[in-house]
Amino acid sequence: MDPERVKQQIYSLASFTASPGQGVTRLCFTPEEAQARDYISQCMREAGLTVYTDAAGNLFGRREGLDSAAPVVMFGSHIDSVRNGGMFDGIAGVVAALEVARTIGQKGLVTRHPIEICALTEEEGSRFGSGLYGSRAMVDGISPEELDRQDSAGIRKGEAMQAFGLDPEKIHEARRKRGDIKAFLELHIEQGPILQRSGKVIGIVDYIVGIRVFKIKVTGSADHAGTTPMNARHDALVGASLVVADVERIALEVGSHAVATVGSLHVKPGSFNVVPSTVEFTVDMRAPSNSALDLAEAKLSQTIERICRPRGVNYEIGRALSVDPVPTSPQIASILERHAVGLGLPHMHVNSGAGHDAMVMAKIAPIGLVFVPSAGGKSHSPDEWTEFEHIAAGADLMLKTVLELAEVVQ
Ligand code: HGY
Ligand code: MN
Ligand code: MN
Repeated sequence: MDPERVKQQIYSLASFTASPGQGVTRLCFTPEEAQARDYISQCMREAGLTVYTDAAGNLFGRREGLDSAAPVVMFGSHIDSVRNGGMFDGIAGVVAALEVARTIGQKGLVTRHPIEICALTEEEGSRFGSGLYGSRAMVDGISPEELDRQDSAGIRKGEAMQAFGLDPEKIHEARRKRGDIKAFLELHIEQGPILQRSGKVIGIVDYIVGIRVFKIKVTGSADHAGTTPMNARHDALVGASLVVADVERIALEVGSHAVATVGSLHVKPGSFNVVPSTVEFTVDMRAPSNSALDLAEAKLSQTIERICRPRGVNYEIGRALSVDPVPTSPQIASILERHAVGLGLPHMHVNSGAGHDAMVMAKIAPIGLVFVPSAGGKSHSPDEWTEFEHIAAGADLMLKTVLELAEVVQ
């Protein structure tokens, strides 16, 4: 694959951002995402694909096989981003998929299975707070409650979909069944330091950690900052802050590679001279096993009870996301490994501390996940960087693997 063409597509897509000069901000169902979809749709058509959008808003490009009823070999990644993120997260996998499709078209290769490249939406959950939305809509379905979730401007997800030309009432039509997809492959930047430190170009992922995201609301009472004695307060922010500080201890106590992060916190009413009445914050917990996640969740609940109860502040704990740890397909991993050797690509087996759409697709299809190195392990930051040659090499590997899985006939 041509690194120059990879570079040009990455930079073109990076220009579709709500935060120019401050990283990529491309949230689902926004004008920036619409620009990215138009660009990717055009690239799909140039690659000879039939372009369509499913009922959830995921974008696909399809190339028929000799047996159009055969299960599809699907590969791609997501097109949304975090706020002020990097230009490779998700997009590297979409561009690699475009390169593969373009090459198959240019060479006039014919496969028995149809192939579909995908550009999924709201994987990050940055707009409505629950990630992996596009893949969950294809696999688990999306609840009416989730369609009622609001963004920071108070817009409901269902409304945002309608404004985007989608009918939320029909979101169930996005569902795929077990058997529809022969294999789901995703190329993604590692978002960690291991590949670069090891001098490898390709990471073949063996499993993806489980994720649980909690939304916590602490409710005290607003009071005058000057006239309210310290022993007469129900300060929601002090309670929340003690919990936040304890989240780090919980992850360290659980051990076994568990991590926990408080990424967002909002204080109301937010005036300097008012004792805070309400604090809403998120806790993102990840671990390689459900037992570690269960332990972390139990410790979190105990901590919140222990801190809030004596302070006379109430709390609510809601689960915004819960995805089990997922192994990838050993069969696909060995195909990837064989072709990495054949292509002379330095490679190693790794695990993923980041979540990916592939972990949801694993419920209905065998998955393969390929990493390419992130400079300094940085991601979810404007400093995110991956060499275009590495993405091109990953696309070469993807091409070989897709052609084998789709049973190329000529
Ligand atoms: O949060 C994650 O792990 C992914 O980047 N969405
Ligand atoms: Mn991400
Ligand atoms: Mn990602």
